[in-house]
Amino acid sequence: MTPSPTSSLSKPPRLSKFSKIGFALGVIASLGALGWNYFSVPTSAQWSDEERRLIASLSLDQLPPLRADPSNAKADDPSAVALGHALYFDKRLSANGAVACATCHKPELMFTDGLKLAVGTSVGDRHTPSLVGLSYSPWFYWDGRKDSQWSQALAPLEAKHEHATTRSDLALLIKSNANYAALYEAAFGSLPKFEIPANSSPLGDDSERAAWQSLSDEEQQSISIIFANIGKALAAYQRKLVPGRARFDDYAERMLRDDSAKVSQGDLLSPAELQGLRLFIGKAMCVTCHNGPLFTNHEFHNTGVLANPGELPSMARYDGIRTARLDPFNCLGEFSDADNSECIELRFARDTNDLVGAHKTPTLRNVDLTAPYMHGGQIADLAAVMRHYNEAPTSMLSHNEAKPLGLRPPELRALEAFMHTLTAPLATDSRWLKAP
Ligand code: HEC
Ligand code: HEC
Repeated sequence: MTPSPTSSLSKPPRLSKFSKIGFALGVIASLGALGWNYFSVPTSAQWSDEERRLIASLSLDQLPPLRADPSNAKADDPSAVALGHALYFDKRLSANGAVACATCHKPELMFTDGLKLAVGTSVGDRHTPSLVGLSYSPWFYWDGRKDSQWSQALAPLEAKHEHATTRSDLALLIKSNANYAALYEAAFGSLPKFEIPANSSPLGDDSERAAWQSLSDEEQQSISIIFANIGKALAAYQRKLVPGRARFDDYAERMLRDDSAKVSQGDLLSPAELQGLRLFIGKAMCVTCHNGPLFTNHEFHNTGVLANPGELPSMARYDGIRTARLDPFNCLGEFSDADNSECIELRFARDTNDLVGAHKTPTLRNVDLTAPYMHGGQIADLAAVMRHYNEAPTSMLSHNEAKPLGLRPPELRALEAFMHTLTAPLATDSRWLKAP
């Protein structure tokens, strides 16, 4: 799948022996540190074979077609996509009629919200991640506590601080709305005949749970099936949200096609952006985790991001995998369409101690449009993210896998400049970017 970089990456380039020229370069570098970074960027756009291989592996041209999701038989069904599209933007999917998925995952902000912490019916404790290209991920949420995109979608609907609705209200909405009922039945088959009650859920408050308990097993089952199918429709819609070719991809294509020597600097990427790319795949070691065409290894790492003030540091993936295993809506559960043998990710997931405090590596595509950053929105802008990696602070829980980088300010600015080459409109038909 995603290529893993070789150990040669971790070796910083050798510094040339001290000489008059070296001394002069040192002076120029110091001037750069004072803000004259123009002088300190390298003048060569030549790449080694290893660098060329790495650059190629990051190109969007390497993104394979989206694989089927065995746990969601309707993941590519047009009626399911149309239903998910409409539901995604529908605020009736909330207790106060004011919250839709699109409230927090806004198309105009690459499906994020620009906030430090998400605001639904009340303020949550996590920062809203982008949904673009996410269907390639085997795990969902910063701590990976969900193993499918359809199962993930169910959680915010019943969460008190997000949509705060109940699964019976959702089933009622599908049944009572002619358009929804038609799309639902086209994708998932007949809706049940019995009268669905309002305000019932096994996860609700006292009265909602009591209402749920008063239903028969069959009624509970029918409602939960509609609920799971709503998740499957929302996942089918989100599979349409894929990133588009950015300047970096054009550069990678040209560089690989032509002899690298012929790619003139500043043509597609500026000198600073090229220097940033060189650092990204080399000395700064970003590519050990942010690799492949989506700039993520889809894995979990502890990178020493401090918890927000007043919050306990999160166990993150260490707890996340345990939660995923117990989830009734996981790949092995009764609402999944997969055979147990197809649930490889869940059955063989690692749960070692180094996952304490480890969060999911996010994509870096379009990252300059999705500030603030990290699982709690702890870091305000990209310049501060680069400083974070340069310092590699001690983790509050377990240990920070990233090591201090010792980069100079112009190098940090170059890394940041490179991030801006990953921005592009989605490769998605514009009708999916607004309510139907
Ligand atoms: C109140 C704001 C809010 C609403 C409403 C909301 N989300 Fe989210 N979403 C978040 C936050 C915050 C996270 C990260 C939470 C965490 O990791 O613990 C998240 C995570 C996700 C993820 C996983 C992202 C990843 O990187 O793994 C997906 C997929 C997602 N949401 C889809 C949806 C869908 C579909 C809906 C509508 C049913 C929805 N969200 C409603 C804020 C929201
Ligand atoms: C050890 C793996 C690892 C390395 C090395 C690494 N990252 Fe990350 N990166 C992560 C993880 C995990 C997160 C999310 C951390 C969190 O939320 O607590 C992240 C978050 C980010 C974010 C914020 C994205 C967002 O949407 O919030 C940016 C930007 C980023 N990294 C850039 C870089 C750059 C540039 C480098 C090299 C200097 C780098 N990373 C090195 C794993 C890594």
